[in-house]
Amino acid sequence: MEVVIFSTVSLDGRIASKTGDSKLSCEHDLRLLHKWRCWADVVLVGARTAMIDNPGLFVKRYPCQRQPFRGIIDGSFSVPYNLRLFEEMPWLSLIITSWEGIEANQWKYKYLISKGVRVLIADDNKRMSMKKVILRLNEFGIRKILVEGGGSVNWSLIKDDVVNNLEITYVGKVLGSGIQVINGEGFSTIQEAPSFVPENIRLCKCGKCVHISWRRSF
Ligand SMILES: NC(=O)c1ccc[n+]([C@@H]2O[C@H](COP(=O)([O-])OP(=O)(O)OC[C@H]3O[C@@H](n4cnc5c(N)ncnc54)[C@H](OP(=O)(O)O)[C@@H]3O)[C@@H](O)[C@H]2O)c1
Repeated sequence: MEVVIFSTVSLDGRIASKTGDSKLSCEHDLRLLHKWRCWADVVLVGARTAMIDNPGLFVKRYPCQRQPFRGIIDGSFSVPYNLRLFEEMPWLSLIITSWEGIEANQWKYKYLISKGVRVLIADDNKRMSMKKVILRLNEFGIRKILVEGGGSVNWSLIKDDVVNNLEITYVGKVLGSGIQVINGEGFSTIQEAPSFVPENIRLCKCGKCVHISWRRSF
């Protein structure tokens, strides 16, 4: 299994401003993101990103033979039933959730299943183990996972140490506050924190951002 996080961040590591403005990417960066989508078997976002941005998560800006699955990590099954992901090609859409989430949202579960959305149950409790999420995706036949945030999902994946690559575009903006790219309770010591080494560093064609590919190192 390969798990890659792709994020576009300000110089101070934010993916959205304090008012939720998250339009940080230039056209070249979006093309790179879509190249990664084309690589993936599934493109995932967290429930809040799904609700706030309502993305389609299709590959559009890069020539690709097929569309990957698109999915939402949503332990409490809280996303609304009328997202773009469920309206456009619902048979390519996944929700990864828990028994606790299903039990609290029976009607939504039945409705989405009837639309052809795949609902994968990965854990008992709504705060899911990301190791179990990855296992469930593996059982479903998925090997290459691209995660596009937000900060809370990114933290869950880093905390459970399932991330192989961080693909980060650093944009020359300083936001001062807002949502951090990895947003959770954090590690207590540097030693506990997982290490990543830079594999590739590229100045973007726009001249205003830098993309760094980081690989997990042990
Ligand atoms: N610049 C960029 O590249 C970029 C990319 C993506 C997003 N964003 C921005 O980031 C913001 C959203 O980020 P966010 O950090 O607030 O939210 P998020 O990570 O998108 O979603 C958080 C939700 O994901 C679910 N989740 C996370 N960890 C989980 C776990 N261990 N088990 C079960 N469910 C889990 C939970 O859903 P439930 O509460 O339903 O269980 C949680 O509330 C938006 O403003 C968006 O625009 C920016």
